Amino acid sequence: MQNARIKKLVDLIQEQDYQGVAINPSPSLSYLSGLQLHLMERPSLLIITQHGNTVMILPKLEQGKIGEDSPIESVFTYGDDPATWPDVFRNAGAALGITTGKIGIEPTMMRFLELSYLQQALPGVEFVDGNQIFAQLRMRKDADEIVKMKKAAEIAQIALKKTLRAVHEGMTEKEIANELVIQLLRCGSDPKIPFEPIVAMGENSANPHAVPTNRTLQQGDVLLIDWGANFDGYFSDITRTFAFGAVDNEIHTLGRIVHQANRAGRKAGKPGLAAGLVDQAARSVISASGYGEAFTHRTGHGLGMEAHEAPYIYGENQAILEVGMTFTVEPGIYCPGKGGVRIEDDVVVTEDGLESLTDFPRQVLSLDDPLLSN
Ligand code: CO
Ligand code: CO
Repeated sequence: MQNARIKKLVDLIQEQDYQGVAINPSPSLSYLSGLQLHLMERPSLLIITQHGNTVMILPKLEQGKIGEDSPIESVFTYGDDPATWPDVFRNAGAALGITTGKIGIEPTMMRFLELSYLQQALPGVEFVDGNQIFAQLRMRKDADEIVKMKKAAEIAQIALKKTLRAVHEGMTEKEIANELVIQLLRCGSDPKIPFEPIVAMGENSANPHAVPTNRTLQQGDVLLIDWGANFDGYFSDITRTFAFGAVDNEIHTLGRIVHQANRAGRKAGKPGLAAGLVDQAARSVISASGYGEAFTHRTGHGLGMEAHEAPYIYGENQAILEVGMTFTVEPGIYCPGKGGVRIEDDVVVTEDGLESLTDFPRQVLSLDDPLLSN
């Protein structure tokens, strides 16, 4: 039985004048079918045509996952002998009734494994980048999805508070990151956290994508933490920056500027305006303070079932914000050799503007600040 999400996808396929789309195990596949499948050495694929036909190819052992209420109409399964797989793909291809035209794929998800079987089975078909379709499909979240994202934000914030209580001088970045992962799981995150937390101390915080090391926490260090939780397949992605003991005054200056830039970004977005305006608003605060060169990345990215998805928040992006879109606002200033400050919130576009899903205190707080103790 076709569901509303597949109906929406079919409309998008028709708009692009494709014959269909082919999707391998990914958030889009879960979004459309409710199926949780893992990428593995065996190919799995869902193909949906412009007429709304749904065909699934998957290993026999996974067949039980397709229940009575599944929106998938025909299923083609195969056993363990790879020599039999091309025939299964050919039979599935014949069932689709597609011999020419275009089939869209998700460029960041589709693998050579699945694509090569598809190309053999459908030699007259051109496989093209269907990113536009998938971005449109999942960009606007419904009320149920927003509830899940709020929950993911809440879990992450509680987990960080608990983690900070355990932080002490001499602890390494890896130890803090590990403690945070444990707390995320204890506080209710699904096991598959959205990404490995970034924990960066002192000069390491000047690297926006730092990987936790064995560096130990010392008095006067800045401590940047970028982390997130997963609730029922929906993610949070937050960054806060702290002071351990008395940090250099410049760090507090950066903290005030970045906080102001973060607020300006969150105030700038509303339905009908270009996504790029959010970046411009945040960036102009940092540029006006003289640190423009030290804000080295875009202001944010879409967030949902993936940690990075559409819409991307960069100055030139003319894409129009719509109610239900969710993304991060995460300006930062990075001074090599000294340290960096980033403040990242998750927001949803509402009728009135941007509503923050995250409310953890944003200023650069000392770890013994009473705001962190409740
Ligand atoms: Co982040
Ligand atoms: Co982010």
